[in-house]
Amino acid sequence: MTATVPEDTASRAGRGEVILSARAVSMRFGGLVAVNEVDLDVHAGEIVGLIGPNGAGKTTFFNCLTGQYRPTAGEVLFRGTPLPPKPRAVVQAGVARTFQNIRLFGNMTALENVMVGRYSRTRAGALSAIGRGPRYRREERETRDRAVQLLEQVGLTRAADNLARSLPYGDQRRLEIARALATEPSVLLLDEPTAGMNPQETRAVEQLITDIRAAGLAIVVIEHDMRFIFSLCDRVSCLVRGEVLTASTPEDVRSDPRVIEAYIGTGREDRGRKDADPAARAKPDAPHETGESS
Ligand SMILES: Nc1ncnc2c1ncn2[C@@H]1O[C@H](COP(=O)(O)OP(=O)(O)OP(=O)(O)O)[C@@H](O)[C@H]1O
Ligand SMILES: [Mg+2]
Repeated sequence: MTATVPEDTASRAGRGEVILSARAVSMRFGGLVAVNEVDLDVHAGEIVGLIGPNGAGKTTFFNCLTGQYRPTAGEVLFRGTPLPPKPRAVVQAGVARTFQNIRLFGNMTALENVMVGRYSRTRAGALSAIGRGPRYRREERETRDRAVQLLEQVGLTRAADNLARSLPYGDQRRLEIARALATEPSVLLLDEPTAGMNPQETRAVEQLITDIRAAGLAIVVIEHDMRFIFSLCDRVSCLVRGEVLTASTPEDVRSDPRVIEAYIGTGREDRGRKDADPAARAKPDAPHETGESS
């Protein structure tokens, strides 16, 4: 080891190139401005946290970054080039994501779900698949081998042949991460990856994210678990009512009175809570879905 700077400090000090940028991204639904002129730069190899109370616009912002929504205004750039607002183009550019409300193929096995992720990268076309030509067979073998590796990386080797819908909730979340990684992204967006997990599972996901970053990926993570966010992230952006309230180091964000106020003032889960410090908040007991009424 020749490094003299601790890894954590080094990663915070020496940011890589900007991989993914949002420039004044806005998203309206009728009269509701869910995301309002949000800027975000994601550098190679960094972990960026996105926090904010329920309904702040975090998931909607992810949907704008990944082509699920076409932003009403603003643009998304990948390595400086405009990213078309189409999910397939976004994945092919190298941006992968998981969903707050898990989207797996329930009737396929864990292994098959990961293989599906990798198909976005393999080149054998439909004709080759129909003919089961040599190139198809080689790619199929490589796809399977890579999926096996990814299942191992997320700790799901034992579940490879189980149907996705039969897996415990925490396993489904980790399977989604494996499927996202199978698309060989350079940026990974995670929407509440530890929702519904116990502390032990949460720590395992924290380690997994650290390992993914060590492999060179940039990560943007939405979470309500503040201990997780503040221990893991290099930078944190806090969204409130669709706008960036603050974007800074974890230390600055966790001590910002406006952030504390935002959580107490509007956070559904915090109603009635006495402790003002978002760093002390526990994560929600159960996952919640986008647009759920409160
Ligand atoms: N497809 C949609 N149509 C209309 N309104 C929407 C749609 N999607 C989200 N919204 C609204 O946009 C706002 C932001 O929602 P969003 O799901 O992005 O919040 P969030 O920060 O992810 O919240 P949570 O922490 O609860 O997941 C909410 O008022 C929500 O009801
Ligand atoms: Mg959300």
